[in-house]
Amino acid sequence: MDDRQGGALVVLEGPDHVGKSTQVERLAQWFRQRKRSVCVSREPGGDALGETIRTMLLGESVDGWTELFLFLAGRARHLNEVIEPALRRGELVILDRYTPSTLVYQGAQLGEEVVLQLTSLPVFRRPEITIILDCAAPLGALDTLDRFEFSGLDGWHERRVRYQILARRFGWVLLSGDGSPESVTERLVGVLAQEGIG
Ligand code: TYD
Repeated sequence: MDDRQGGALVVLEGPDHVGKSTQVERLAQWFRQRKRSVCVSREPGGDALGETIRTMLLGESVDGWTELFLFLAGRARHLNEVIEPALRRGELVILDRYTPSTLVYQGAQLGEEVVLQLTSLPVFRRPEITIILDCAAPLGALDTLDRFEFSGLDGWHERRVRYQILARRFGWVLLSGDGSPESVTERLVGVLAQEGIG
């Protein structure tokens, strides 16, 4: 494995508290140890403007449409400034959240089909692979919920089911996030290898 391989966009998704951020870091480390250039990023966020949008979104309650367009504006900027340049450099880009979050969170509020139309605009690159981490229950207590993670455990289960349904519809990989962090990383590496991503 070396840096002559082409760029690929890998999205890790799922409800809150399924170990996404941990696995994004573990996966990046696994590839870096094998001398693969990796770019790790997250949404909302990505660059300075993206982080400003993140602070706005997580801090302030705005109406649903404004919220949706802020997420999408942040995504367009993120793609332009971070993701596309990294892919052009041949890097493996590992993203913590992307379009699936918009479909699950804003789709629940505004309607899935209209959100799908907007998230499918050509400006929003399609990832090589989208993996949904699926856990039977949240890992750890739901004591640090942000304003998108409403309704406690019931809300969490609703979001889990929405991810499962959307995964079937869009061909995303639904992967068990249960078990030790090591075993989950192994499964992730296995899925990527099967898809020829490395
Ligand atoms: P974050 O702290 O990154 O959550 P987590 O650690 O669970 O990934 O917060 C991001 C929040 O933003 C999360 O609750 C999901 C929400 N979100 C949306 O509602 N729509 C989106 O398009 C994205 C990318 C995130």
